[in-house]
Amino acid sequence: MTEESKPQRYASWTAGKLPLPELAEMKRRGEKIVMVTAYDAPSGRLADVAGVDLILVGDSSGMVVHGRESTVPVTLDEIVFMTQWVSRGAKRPIVIADMPFGSYEESDEQAIRNAVRLVKEGGADAVKLERGGTSVARARAIVGAGIPVMGHVGLTPQTATVLGGFKAQGRTAERARQLVEDALALEAAGCFSIVLEAVPPAVAQAATRALTVPTIGIGAGKDTDGQVLVWHDMLGFYEGRAPRFVKRYAELGDAIVEALEQYAEEVRSGAFPEDRHTYGMPEEEQAAFEAPPQ
Ligand code: KIV
Repeated sequence: MTEESKPQRYASWTAGKLPLPELAEMKRRGEKIVMVTAYDAPSGRLADVAGVDLILVGDSSGMVVHGRESTVPVTLDEIVFMTQWVSRGAKRPIVIADMPFGSYEESDEQAIRNAVRLVKEGGADAVKLERGGTSVARARAIVGAGIPVMGHVGLTPQTATVLGGFKAQGRTAERARQLVEDALALEAAGCFSIVLEAVPPAVAQAATRALTVPTIGIGAGKDTDGQVLVWHDMLGFYEGRAPRFVKRYAELGDAIVEALEQYAEEVRSGAFPEDRHTYGMPEEEQAAFEAPPQ
């Protein structure tokens, strides 16, 4: 990118919020929907500048940002804080806050109370919850309270233990049918979109055809209405084992280490800071300051 094109690119940041109904229109027009995770204001802003449509404040933060082994321990407060930061950075994209494990399973009332916190305190435009089954009733309740809900079926990391680990789902005819049924039930409950994670392309294609709301795939092939990737995975600064569906679009981890190594070298050699990095003082003030006390 040239220096001249930079300000123009960043000017797009002031565009208005993408209207939620536009997502269904995008599906109808066959226009792909772009979604990425983000966890703070700078990444929200950069995703906005890049023209991303949806930002997910995912509980993947537990693993890629906070160094945990799974998403299970992530708390509602953490998602509320991160959603506040992301919403300050991202203006046009629809910001979706993940409902963490334990924040919606107990009852419809608990699910509504916590979804309201994500919208009221976090500034989320919508929330996402995982699984079919009891989550269908929770989705219906939250939608009934006036909050848009995104569903998530297939590999649902919050219940990975039940699924036998972080494994592809819907690989038998029976499980594939169940998965499409779950997606349809979430749509009937009022979800505006459904994430399909780690499912065979044939299953994603069938779900995408069967649903009127857009599907967003992650490890679900190219026939979904949109795609989502996790920020740290796709930008190359997460060193854990990445799933096979991740494409690394940059190696920012390497770029950061190189920059830090150069900084360390220049601090140690005295090459940094230079005069241009310091503050001046009027000559007479400096002379008076340095004059021996009378
Ligand atoms: O938490 C997350 O980042 C997610 C995406 C992988 C869809 O749920």
